Amino acid sequence: MSNHPARSKERFLVFGSPLIEEEEIREVVSCIESGWLGTGPKVSQFEANFKDYKHANHAVALSSCTAALHLSMLAAGLKPGDEVITTALTFCATVNAIIHTGATPVLVDIEPESMNIDPDQIELAITPRTRAVLPVHFAGRPCNIDKIMNIAAQNNLKVIEDCAHAIEAEYKGHKAGTFGDFGCFSFYVTKNIVTGEGGMVLAQREQDAARIKVLALHGMTKDAWKRFGDEGYKHYHVVECGFKYNMMDLQAAIGIHQLRRIESYWQRRHEIWERYNESLKSLPVTLPFDPEPNTRHAHHLYTILIDQKHAGISRDSFLNEMTRANIGVGVHYLSIPEHPYYQKSFGWRPEDFPNAMRIGRQTVSLPLSPKLRDKDVDDVINAVCTCLDRS
Ligand SMILES: Cc1ncc(COP(=O)(O)O)c(C=O)c1O
Repeated sequence: MSNHPARSKERFLVFGSPLIEEEEIREVVSCIESGWLGTGPKVSQFEANFKDYKHANHAVALSSCTAALHLSMLAAGLKPGDEVITTALTFCATVNAIIHTGATPVLVDIEPESMNIDPDQIELAITPRTRAVLPVHFAGRPCNIDKIMNIAAQNNLKVIEDCAHAIEAEYKGHKAGTFGDFGCFSFYVTKNIVTGEGGMVLAQREQDAARIKVLALHGMTKDAWKRFGDEGYKHYHVVECGFKYNMMDLQAAIGIHQLRRIESYWQRRHEIWERYNESLKSLPVTLPFDPEPNTRHAHHLYTILIDQKHAGISRDSFLNEMTRANIGVGVHYLSIPEHPYYQKSFGWRPEDFPNAMRIGRQTVSLPLSPKLRDKDVDDVINAVCTCLDRS
């Protein structure tokens, strides 16, 4: 255990703080100076770059991953009464997007080691009303895609991959988000690359990408954003009742440069991951399981499990102790059925999803940003050791 002095309050280590560099700052300033702040050429460039990075068919930039999930499900043709199977351990946005589509979310439990949706449980949850499955590549670890795609093919289900954590994830050499009908990504401030708020959807089919573009901008005909350009005024027509889900050039200006550094950021998080693995391995906590062979983990969240019986401290006391040591930590996530809204609306109980419940009650995410310096990583490790020792 360490005797290092505690980190000072002034240097509170903010969880998930993004690394923003000079190029993004210059690009944002030039965007402001150009006067074109809204959807425009920088968004088109970011879409093209992301599509190339992913070797995908079609990419549409949006205001968030939540918007990407919502519009994917509308483009998939989901209707009220349709059921969508998803995981009990995810951010609320995954489930809310299903509800906003008008469909009914059906939760299933996770595999305790991967923390990903359990494909055997998906099969058990299928009914005549099931239309889609929405797996989340949790913490950046790819789901068992082969099994999920087989189940979907056998039951004629759409697949919408929630890749909010998984930009760099790969499964058998293919990138997450390119297996299903749709792949949805987040560039929220804590994500692997950021645009402030922002998202992207990958679609297999041209017609789905085109519909998403229309839905993202009020239901106005394609490329309505060009109506103010120098090619002469263009009338638009509203062809359905859409949403305001478009990405701005101001956001894409950040994303274009973040995407160029995606590999070096991953390498840095990989280094930190390995340091945590090495330094915390003898502590009475559960560390993340190694990635499955033939996959690439996107290293979005480094989660440790605090079981009071072994650690001698409760998870919530540990969170408080870490915060007192000036280290920002996260909880990803309390399981979905822990929240009152879902209990009231769907009658879900945490005990019915025991793996998700246990992990949701034990999990703590440690800082894992490329912005962390070696000294910051030392401080996190020392704080974890001290908090467990003190208990
Ligand atoms: C698993 C998961 N899905 C969806 C989202 C929603 O992303 P956004 O904030 O870009 O809407 C998040 C965001 O944290 C997430 O973690």
